[in-house]
Amino acid sequence: MGEYSKIYQSWKSEPLKFWAEAAQAIDWYKPWKKVQGELDGLERWYIGAQCNTSYNCLDRHVAGGRAEQTALIYDSPVTGKKRQYSYAELLKEVETFAAVLEQSDVKKGDRVILYMPMIPEAAIAMLACSRIGAIHSVVFGGFASPELATRIDDCRPNLIIAASCGIEPNRIVEYKPLLDHAIELAEHKVEKCIIYQREEHVVALNEGIDFDWQLLVDDAKDAGRKAEPVPLLATDSLYILYTSGTTGTPKGVVRDNGGHMVALHWSMKAIYNIDAGDVFWAASDVGWVVGHSYIVYGPLLAGATTIMYEGKPVGTPDAGVFWRVIEEYGVKTFFTAPTAFRAIKKEDPEGKLIADYDLSKLNALYLAGERADPATIKWAEQQLKIPVIDHWWQTETGWAMVCNPLGIEKLPIKYGSPTKPIPGYDIVILDDEGEKVEAGVTGNVLIKRPLPPGCLPTLWQADTVFRQKYFENFDGYYETSDAGFIDDDGYLFIMARTDDIINVAGHRLSTGAMEEVLSAHNDVAECAVIGITDKLKGQMPIGLIILNNGVTKDHAVIEGECKQMMRDEIGPVAAYKTSIVVERLPKTRSGKILRATMRKIADGEDYKMPATIDDPEILTEITDRFKHVGLI
Ligand code: COA
Ligand code: AMP
Repeated sequence: MGEYSKIYQSWKSEPLKFWAEAAQAIDWYKPWKKVQGELDGLERWYIGAQCNTSYNCLDRHVAGGRAEQTALIYDSPVTGKKRQYSYAELLKEVETFAAVLEQSDVKKGDRVILYMPMIPEAAIAMLACSRIGAIHSVVFGGFASPELATRIDDCRPNLIIAASCGIEPNRIVEYKPLLDHAIELAEHKVEKCIIYQREEHVVALNEGIDFDWQLLVDDAKDAGRKAEPVPLLATDSLYILYTSGTTGTPKGVVRDNGGHMVALHWSMKAIYNIDAGDVFWAASDVGWVVGHSYIVYGPLLAGATTIMYEGKPVGTPDAGVFWRVIEEYGVKTFFTAPTAFRAIKKEDPEGKLIADYDLSKLNALYLAGERADPATIKWAEQQLKIPVIDHWWQTETGWAMVCNPLGIEKLPIKYGSPTKPIPGYDIVILDDEGEKVEAGVTGNVLIKRPLPPGCLPTLWQADTVFRQKYFENFDGYYETSDAGFIDDDGYLFIMARTDDIINVAGHRLSTGAMEEVLSAHNDVAECAVIGITDKLKGQMPIGLIILNNGVTKDHAVIEGECKQMMRDEIGPVAAYKTSIVVERLPKTRSGKILRATMRKIADGEDYKMPATIDDPEILTEITDRFKHVGLI
């Protein structure tokens, strides 16, 4: 039996023993009464234990001899800035900013929204919140004001921390007007904001509401104020991260302190083969789960060095920038989204720029966030000559469910599969009736309960929605909303989503939310948004719109308005560009729009005429329309 099978079996036969042992790697103020069990109707880990995430990320490394080791590297080709923080320096910034939070009346259990670009202050603010037990909720900078307002109303923060701007290669993203508008839109009234002024774009602050980050920090430093880590229950919430659901209202995924630390710490070695002192780089954004888990918490829990990279894979300045960063900092394990590699491959198909850099320290590349297409994996393997590891996870789980765990054993790679389940995850495939399917047959990908440490214990103040969404359809299982199969060798293949979520450039987006935006257009009677295959971004949204009777406006004008509405309501991250005016939409006899069938037509895939279709002629109309606009 190989090492992977041994460890997986050891977890399966005694899961509580397995996770109790893994928890020894974390410093606790007080041990747990129960490794796992039910608390207030929810499945929880390390019940009764006390701990602090910021302490485990920083203080204990400083105390344990890593004070001078680099904890965080900031590299920003969009501003030309670079900076490094040792563990001691990062601790100083975090304990000072935590004192600023306390001074700003933020208490344990309060929520703090962060609307920040990829600058060290984002990580400092996250860690400072965790130090005093405030629950942070980071909102990705590519979301527009209404999305921010929805999150403000859901988690009702006492404070928002924002930067004056984000920087995209083609423009300055002015956060302040977006923030002010969101506060105006929200019903919950935010009384205080701390604004980090970036020299690239300094903004005017609202008297009595907005406070300057640097002035507050300078004051605290002058007065010698710093906040000690507060003992928190393992089951207390560390953060809320909103993610797209099937409707326009995002779901507030909650993460706890104890289980999260144990799972991430364990994953750093077992999955990514990272030890203390190694350099780990996840080229994502703190606004996404990858950024939470593997830019901030995971590497710091492990005593590794993490990199915050503010730039793109291409164009900042070229398709060699990833190799430059890997060489410059001696990155051992690199993690990014397949779409980033597709972008590099497009710019530099022969990988000429790779030859300019010394990548000898790089041991492995990990891809996640969307399906890793075999062509991209093979290209990366050929260019880098290291293992290229696809792994599958979601915001809800916070860490990989299925992976090739290099820190345990390198399993043979099968292209198109993220490999095998990680200890903690018993993955089964059931059909819609809840029956097990045979190997190779596609069905619903489910996880046997309880979920392992690190996964969401609930949705923010929505236990009922949590149960309905994830547990109601399949008794005893967590529903991932992905469809796929397990082959004869136990390898999982993820094929599609079972809901209306699409994945654009590794970003998870709700077509339901986009339909809500289009429906609000005065001339639109009905609409459907589908995600069609895109060579670079994996998927791209397109909107099919039926106009109200009597609308005479030029269709191009309406399409332009729809695009702008999507940017204003959801944000540029939606990457919504194409609307197609149609006469009718295909539906079932019960009125359900046949989105999947239209997607197949757009992607040139074979499709079966749905048995329940109301009027098959409409599919011919749609096909003709797609041909007419040059989509197929
Ligand atoms: N703040 C504000 N706007 C942002 C933003 C941010 N943090 N991130 C992206 N945007 C904007 C972009 O400027 C762009 O706006 P535009 O329409 O005005 O050009 C839009 O959102 C779409 O951005 P993006 O998806 O990044 O597309 P792109 O064409 O600029 O770049 C890639 C294409 C492939 C280079 C890019 O998508 C990429 O780096 N993807 C990797 C994704 C990733 O790391 N995902 C995390 C999951 S692990
Ligand atoms: P997010 O919550 O944004 O991380 O998105 C999670 C979803 O992205 C999953 O449910 C999948 O649909 C998809 N996904 C993530 N990683 C992979 C992968 N390695 N292979 C296939 N799909 C993936």
